[in-house]
Amino acid sequence: MYKINCLNPIAKVGTKLLTDNYTMTDNFAEADAALVRSASVHELELPDSLEAIARAGAGVNNIPLDKCAQKGIVVFNTPGANANGVKELVIAGMLMASRDLVGGVKWVEANKDDENIVKDVEKAKKAFAGGEIKGKKLGVIGLGAIGVQVANTAINLGMDVYGYDPYISVDAAWKLSRHIIHIESLDAICENCDFITIHVPALPSTKGMISEDALSKMKDGVVVLNFARDVLVDEDAMCRALESGKVKKYVTDFPNPKSVHMKNVLVLPHLGASTEESEDNCAVMAVQELMDYLENGNIKNSVNYPACDLGDRSGTRLAIFNRNVPNMIGQFASTLAEAGINIPSMTNQSKGDLAYTLMDVEGDVTDAVLDKLMAIQGVFKIRVIK
Ligand SMILES: NC(=O)c1ccc[n+]([C@@H]2O[C@H](COP(=O)([O-])OP(=O)(O)OC[C@H]3O[C@@H](n4cnc5c(N)ncnc54)[C@H](O)[C@@H]3O)[C@@H](O)[C@H]2O)c1
Repeated sequence: MYKINCLNPIAKVGTKLLTDNYTMTDNFAEADAALVRSASVHELELPDSLEAIARAGAGVNNIPLDKCAQKGIVVFNTPGANANGVKELVIAGMLMASRDLVGGVKWVEANKDDENIVKDVEKAKKAFAGGEIKGKKLGVIGLGAIGVQVANTAINLGMDVYGYDPYISVDAAWKLSRHIIHIESLDAICENCDFITIHVPALPSTKGMISEDALSKMKDGVVVLNFARDVLVDEDAMCRALESGKVKKYVTDFPNPKSVHMKNVLVLPHLGASTEESEDNCAVMAVQELMDYLENGNIKNSVNYPACDLGDRSGTRLAIFNRNVPNMIGQFASTLAEAGINIPSMTNQSKGDLAYTLMDVEGDVTDAVLDKLMAIQGVFKIRVIK
């Protein structure tokens, strides 16, 4: 029976996937695994019982990843589970930038006591008229879980879509509509597009990617959308570009003391993934990852251990956590062979200086065998999954 602790409320649609093999506990100190959203794990003592933590969401800065890795605690997140929520808001952002929806709603609100509103609106509405997005050129920077969905949806809305991602994954490339024009430089996106939306992670290499130089190469009257992270945009340069009219509108999901005071800015209060469906998707994915790990030892979407999958388990399986150094597999195999234990299947993956080995075994894995495996230099944790 596995004990699961929820450090935050987790959507029921996820926790109800847990079978009779699982029980919920309020006590983190006795948990086999924890589910978390934004609660900080940094201050918590990590119990010896803890095998895994799953974050229902993408960011994991509330979890001490290295400390967990050193203790053989696998940390999971749920990449892409909120992609549709963000995509829909990006589309809304493009529409809000094209038609003055916000100005129009504010006008109606301000004039709600006007008895002649039916007549007055016909004169006033000119101020809020706009353009359509159909036929316009959209540049998508970063074609991961969100960028691909934005690009494909924009195609369906009749836009010409240009995609730029030098590191696109095979999986993302498979999902991308064939109508998307493959662009090989950021400059080409800047020079050609009427709308530019950025969907890359915040890394030292992407910080300030929408720079003074990039902005200067954009078309006059471009709309820039940022639903990824504020640091991706040089906000001083953006301020100047908005003041001069080079950028017609900047739509961002990140209020900060600079962005909220910009001219022609539409700032949303970090609403990208704030949908019931995104929370449900994250909860389901987080629970499925934990169950597959606890029951089969398989690792998918971990941020501190390599992906490793030996399929569903039918008998005894060993999960060995070890340093990524030579001759580990050889030593595991000979130790098990000496004890007369057969290995019908196995797989091993590494990430940095950590490695993870899954072995299906036939034979009696006694404490003495486990002691011998643990005594191999570089091995720091073994799970026997039965
Ligand atoms: N507004 C919100 O509430 C919200 C919600 C979820 C995610 N996000 C943000 O959106 C970002 C993207 O999310 P995702 O799920 O699509 O991530 P993802 O990891 O699936 O995709 C990121 C893509 O960016 C590409 N990339 C990396 N560096 C690049 C570069 N220099 N130039 C071009 N492409 C580059 C990668 O190859 C990858 O395909 C996240 O990092 C996160 O910061 C925001």
